[in-house]
Amino acid sequence: MAITIKKIGSDTELKETAQLADIIWHECFTGIISEGQIDYMVDKFQSYKAMTKQLIDQDYSYFAVRDDGELCGYIGVRPEKDSRFFLSKLYLRKDKRGSGIASQMLEKVFEEARDNGKSEVYLTVNKHNDHAIDVYKKKGFTVTDEVVTDIGGGYVMDDYIMTYEL
Ligand SMILES: CC(C)(COP(=O)(O)OP(=O)(O)OC[C@H]1O[C@@H](n2cnc3c(N)ncnc32)[C@H](O)[C@@H]1OP(=O)(O)O)[C@@H](O)C(=O)NCCC(=O)NCCS
Repeated sequence: MAITIKKIGSDTELKETAQLADIIWHECFTGIISEGQIDYMVDKFQSYKAMTKQLIDQDYSYFAVRDDGELCGYIGVRPEKDSRFFLSKLYLRKDKRGSGIASQMLEKVFEEARDNGKSEVYLTVNKHNDHAIDVYKKKGFTVTDEVVTDIGGGYVMDDYIMTYEL
């Protein structure tokens, strides 16, 4: 197992990541939100078109996580104008979980945040995404707030906000 986590810089890689996102989102959110909402959110936030826009207009960066060269996960982040660093996406394919890769991914996020001169990392997580919440707590995040976000299409995101002090 040789893990690499590198910033995505090509259209080909971004397309590959969008395909992986589609798989992971349908696997991990089934039972948490409706199938219709998963399709809607993948299209709105994780399609190749949506991610391209985030990179160009919204100051996002995406990182590809590879095991022996094979794409198995991805990270999306965005620096805020204040002292915070937004961890927008942290996704690992199911067969790669429980093997220490997630901790390496979070280390990468913290490193990027520090490189951007930030003092805290925050994220939003669905209130019923128990495993992710447990992982974030284990890695030092705490629940600092909660938020319900109207994302259109008749759907809302019902999330905790979790924060990590660097
Ligand atoms: C969230 C995600 C990236 C975490 O990856 P993972 O491989 O499942 O995490 P791991 O099993 O490696 O656990 C990471 C750490 O949390 C700990 N942990 C895992 N489950 C835990 C639990 N139930 N209670 C306490 N600690 C736990 C592990 O011991 C490990 O700690 P360590 O590295 O210090 O030993 C992965 O589950 C995933 O992609 N899930 C689907 C997508 C998702 O929900 N993303 C988050 C959206 S906000």
